[in-house]
Amino acid sequence: MNNVVVVGSQWGDEGKGKIVDWLSSEADVVVRFQGGHNAGHTLVIDGVTYKLRLLPSGIVRKNKISIIGNGVVVDPWALLDEIEEAKTKAVEINENNLILSEAATLILPFHREMDEIREDTAGKSKIGTTRRGIGPAYEDKVGRRSIRVMDLASKKNLENRLAVVLEHHNAIRKGLGKPIYEKDKLVEDLLKIAPNILKYSAPVWRKINQFKSENKKILFEGAQGILLDVDHGTYPYVTSSNTVAASAATGSGCGPNLINYVLGITKAYTTRVGEGPFPTELTDDIGNHLGEKGHEFGTVTSRKRRCGWFDGVLVRQTIKISGINGIALTKLDVLDELDEINLCVAYELNGKEIDYFPAAVEDQLNVKPVYKIFKGWKSKTQGIKKFDDLPTNAKIYVNSIEEFIETKISSISTSPEREDTILLIDPFK
Ligand code: GDP
Ligand code: IMO
Ligand code: MG
Repeated sequence: MNNVVVVGSQWGDEGKGKIVDWLSSEADVVVRFQGGHNAGHTLVIDGVTYKLRLLPSGIVRKNKISIIGNGVVVDPWALLDEIEEAKTKAVEINENNLILSEAATLILPFHREMDEIREDTAGKSKIGTTRRGIGPAYEDKVGRRSIRVMDLASKKNLENRLAVVLEHHNAIRKGLGKPIYEKDKLVEDLLKIAPNILKYSAPVWRKINQFKSENKKILFEGAQGILLDVDHGTYPYVTSSNTVAASAATGSGCGPNLINYVLGITKAYTTRVGEGPFPTELTDDIGNHLGEKGHEFGTVTSRKRRCGWFDGVLVRQTIKISGINGIALTKLDVLDELDEINLCVAYELNGKEIDYFPAAVEDQLNVKPVYKIFKGWKSKTQGIKKFDDLPTNAKIYVNSIEEFIETKISSISTSPEREDTILLIDPFK
């Protein structure tokens, strides 16, 4: 029996939410382990759309346990809003099916403000963050001055810790000519919501260990994508957490040996939100067509996503970095109307052909894609549930991706709906 980690193999928004929801029919427990409400995971079930930011995508199914691990940065107000919003869609959420790590770092209003101040003053070097305070909150975590979920249980601890973190923030704010952040009102506001947050709080490592001994199937749900990983992504145009599969262990409190299968969610083309290198980006009519047909607008910020061809070099690389065993290929249907489809199989850099994505952002911005061209299938794949029913040219494209990335395609998604998915290999078996 397998425990599975789902990660995005590109720059996020690959369709992780849809695939996690689909797979969670087989899982007992779904765990978020990094990121925060910068994530936007969309589920479409019988025509009803759910947009989840912090809540694991298993939450919509009955009799599943959802866990927010210690590696997640949690804006407590955003979490409570999301719980209320989900309840309006008849999603059941209570202390029995939602567990929040007592050790998770909180995102507080001054983190969000710092994110905004930095983005607004960065000019051309801005990252294009989601402005949710993710980066500043992770900085405070590593700087050992975070407020964590457990601190909400004691007014004294909360006051002491806030004094430390605000000393740091207020020094920077003063330097930037911004008003200092007052502690007392924040303590009051936090204590007001504390009981509503603390009721979900528990030692997640113990729970996971218990589920392991009960032979429960655990599905770990990554956020963002490997190209946004703070170590392995297009630094500095990245998020502030490790998005690779290995984070599932540190971000929840289990060993890497609890994970048996890494599933990389991969779009049949490529998108990116925010600034940074994107070798196969299309700024022409085809790019616009992909954006419109694929509804490529950010779930969190409604920004237009940049679109481009499938980049085989990048995906082959992220597969190796994250130990991906199989790929769930999504949004194949978005390519249905194209005459020709390009697949990037190498780059040219300074007159030489290379077969990898270089580490320096300056080189990443300069690589020119080398394409292999495929004939389009010009017919509808939307809603197809069997591989044999795909048009021949679609099969050729999918098989060529599989061969190039040297990794099995374990499923193919052909619409946003839960059931419109072709299963080739069950990652849990
Ligand atoms: P995530 O962040 O990886 O969970 O992805 P998002 O939810 O941000 O973005 C993926 C978008 O594509 C969502 O609007 C999904 O409903 C949609 N989607 C997922 N799979 C498919 C698919 O196979 N075909 C189409 N057309 N849309 C899909
Ligand atoms: P899901 O889980 C796509 C991008 C932002 C920005 C960079 C840093 O839905 O795939 P941050 O707010 O994290 O400091 O922003 O990362 N980004 C995402 N892009 N999907 C996401 O999540 C993202 N989360 C962050 O656009 O470029
Ligand atoms: Mg998303």
